[in-house]
Amino acid sequence: MYTPQDEKRLYEQAKKILADDGQDDPQIIDSLRQTILYADWKYYVQSDPVLSDDEYDALFKKLKHIEEKYPELVTADSPTQRVALGLSERFPTVSHLVPMLSLDNTYNAEDLIDWDRKCHELAETDEIEYCVEPKYDGASISLIYDNGNLSRGATRGDGVMGEDVTANIRQIKAIPLSAALAKQGVVQIEIRGEIVIHKNVFEAFNKQRVAEGLSPLANPRNAASGTLRILDPAEVRKRGLNAILYHISDYTLSAGAQRPDELRTHYGSLKWLYSLGFPTPAREMKVFKHIDQVIAYCKEFEGQRDSLAFEVDGLVIKVNDFALQDRMGMTSHHPRWAVAYKFKARQATSKLLDVEFQVGRVGAITPVAKIEPVHIGGVTVKSISLFNEDVIKEKDVRIGDTVLVERAGDVIPYIVKPLTELRTGEEKEIKFPTHCPACNSELEKQQDEAAWRCINIACPVQVAERMIHFASKDAMDIRSLGGANVQKFYDKGLLPDIAGIYHIDWNRVSELGGFGEKSVTNLKEAIEQSKKQPLNRLIFGLGIRHVGETTAKTLASAVAHISDFYTWDIEKLSTLEDIGPKVATSVVDFFARPENRAIINKLDEAGVNLKNEYRGEQQTSGELSGKTFLFTGTLSHFKRSDAEAIVENKGGSILGSVSTKLNYLVVGEDAGSKLEKAKKLGSVNILTEQEFLELVKG
Ligand code: IVH
Repeated sequence: MYTPQDEKRLYEQAKKILADDGQDDPQIIDSLRQTILYADWKYYVQSDPVLSDDEYDALFKKLKHIEEKYPELVTADSPTQRVALGLSERFPTVSHLVPMLSLDNTYNAEDLIDWDRKCHELAETDEIEYCVEPKYDGASISLIYDNGNLSRGATRGDGVMGEDVTANIRQIKAIPLSAALAKQGVVQIEIRGEIVIHKNVFEAFNKQRVAEGLSPLANPRNAASGTLRILDPAEVRKRGLNAILYHISDYTLSAGAQRPDELRTHYGSLKWLYSLGFPTPAREMKVFKHIDQVIAYCKEFEGQRDSLAFEVDGLVIKVNDFALQDRMGMTSHHPRWAVAYKFKARQATSKLLDVEFQVGRVGAITPVAKIEPVHIGGVTVKSISLFNEDVIKEKDVRIGDTVLVERAGDVIPYIVKPLTELRTGEEKEIKFPTHCPACNSELEKQQDEAAWRCINIACPVQVAERMIHFASKDAMDIRSLGGANVQKFYDKGLLPDIAGIYHIDWNRVSELGGFGEKSVTNLKEAIEQSKKQPLNRLIFGLGIRHVGETTAKTLASAVAHISDFYTWDIEKLSTLEDIGPKVATSVVDFFARPENRAIINKLDEAGVNLKNEYRGEQQTSGELSGKTFLFTGTLSHFKRSDAEAIVENKGGSILGSVSTKLNYLVVGEDAGSKLEKAKKLGSVNILTEQEFLELVKG
């Protein structure tokens, strides 16, 4: 796809365009597009970003400007053309060139040995090579490229007919809008794959939803398949979907063209696609000559499933040689030359004992199911959010039901469904309260929202929850002021509101008991430190409805001082990127309330930073701030998540891949490609676990 020389040239080209902030010169349009496509490929296909978000945005904006000025220069495969206009009404049904089949499943070594035996019978040979790759848990899609251009993207549907979701597929930056297929003699090709969502993206997305008063989505798979069917492509773009392509189902060569050599094996074909810029499991595939090796690899891989960026529910084993595949054929359900090895389900059944109703910091009432404790994927689950009343109704769960519980990856557990066939008739309907369980005010529900809310802002649980949020890690990060302490102080009248954090009567704290001198000093210090937090964290911490971390950043960067918002109206707020009328209204309401202004004044008096200028300083506050880390291989001295937490607590950050932006790579046993790459780059400090511990000591 790109030679190292190409990469160097494109990278320098990007930097040059970024440095030249002169006129929007139409002459550079081609190089501009090339650099953006290259940046997309690095980011989405290679997971190795070369530009910062700001740099990327600047290039994109420049391209948009030039195209606006010279509309005749717009091409169908320009990166700007992912951004479809307007809304589509519904999705037309289309037929797949070749039916989209499913896979047969195996669950253990015996199943695989059986399958291997059948393969040898059908293929009529002793020697079969197997290619093994991850089984991605997302939404399957089929893409057609005509003369190298993406002409159609469709969902699986019933396997024969799917929905035409081309406009949405075009938003997914991992999927090339065009590729040099013609040069390879390919006129048309149909490629199959999976639309997936990065676990981190999914988590951030859910956080944002919760901040906006919406219920979080259950798992990355639902998020991916739901997003593909959204009617607004702009919304699809925001969700940052990704894709992995794993099968060529059909292709037509131009007259007289030679079939590319790579298209004789599955392994070759995915490498070939990868070299043309398509996202494939090229780096995750392995070829084995014997089923025993396949089995050993399956077992080994299962242990690592949580360390992958995407949710994986098994491995797929495919006969590598296409000629053998053809000989073996398929059933109406699945190909005989492929099989899925499914990992142990992270599902279990349990009994729904009761439902509690919790009050959140913005008054939303969340039903929480209490279940008989069950072990799923290494953790014990006892309570599970049911999100809101609609979810309860939709699933028709009742108290006393046996329920199916699933935990997908690192993601929070959820109730899949009640097992209605096990009902005895004794089950009780879940009654949603009409009044707040904390302050007894009548609950309200807004038209476009799923949540019932307590709108009494003096509701004691809400006040305490607001403070817990303010002090939390992603907001003001006052480490020793967790939920338990806040609740204790609040109950004793030591913390009337957020600003009260900076006016705690320490004599009374000492009298409370349970606080030694050391812990008081630590707490004081943490509170003092928080005064210097950047404005975006403060804005997020204030707990303005619909304002999540991202929106808080947008808001903070738009003003010099928080009080500037006192004069901003909905119209002015709506000019900011990604701020719509709903968020704008909520922000205006918040700053118009005298009680909120009073809190801001008190924060000001206490010396809390309310200006948009502490950014630079913040970066130098932790010992490791500004430093980036990545862990690879099997770590024996500590758990990866603990080590990552240490880095973050000291102000450093964790990267997802090795790039020039990486400062430290910490290597455990059996480190692989990441280590190789870091060595090649030369700019990365490579540390053993011991060296890492020394670095962070104290
Ligand atoms: S091959 C004829 N490879 O799993 C080709 N499928 O449970 C059949 N899937 O419908 C598909 N990762 O949506 C294949 N590496 C992979 C896969 C994969 C995920 C999905 C696919 C399929 C489903 C069957």
